[in-house]
Amino acid sequence: MKKIVLAFMLLVGAVQAGNYTKEDRIKDMKAMAKAMDTIQNGFFYNNYDTVAEGVMKLSDHVENVKPPIEETEEKNPMARYMDGKIKMTNKIVKKIDQKALTILQRFKAGDSAQAVQAYTKIVGQCMKCHREIRHW
Ligand code: HEC
Repeated sequence: MKKIVLAFMLLVGAVQAGNYTKEDRIKDMKAMAKAMDTIQNGFFYNNYDTVAEGVMKLSDHVENVKPPIEETEEKNPMARYMDGKIKMTNKIVKKIDQKALTILQRFKAGDSAQAVQAYTKIVGQCMKCHREIRHW
């Protein structure tokens, strides 16, 4: 039974992975913005659990982020352009995920200065993507 449930969950996961829409991306964006707020509050109130909660949320959502199906399905003659976008996204997502872990490790070690630095680097990565994809 457990195996069937697991297989089903994997299947649903696979189907969802192929159907990532713009709407899903906005949801992930909003969730990430909230997670960043949570982390910041954790810093200000000096509360590890709050920091950890924010970091977990951030990681959960950033891992979903990719170019949505509307963009990947465009019959774009510039497939290379899309390729570049996917590569850039993967790179940024990985960086954010890594820095999120750094926040947790540094904050736990009592090094809030380094934790804040990792946080700032994440903000930089968020804005990098917004600049390059959205030209903000
Ligand atoms: C891979 C690129 C990428 C990364 C990385 C990224 N964003 Fe975004 N973000 C976008 C795009 C594209 C939109 C516009 C979505 C749309 O309107 O379809 C957006 C929109 C948003 C919005 C507005 C959502 C709305 O309601 O319209 C917020 C808030 C946001 N991002 C927060 C963040 C935060 C916080 C991070 C970093 C933790 C981040 N983003 C990282 C690409 C990215």
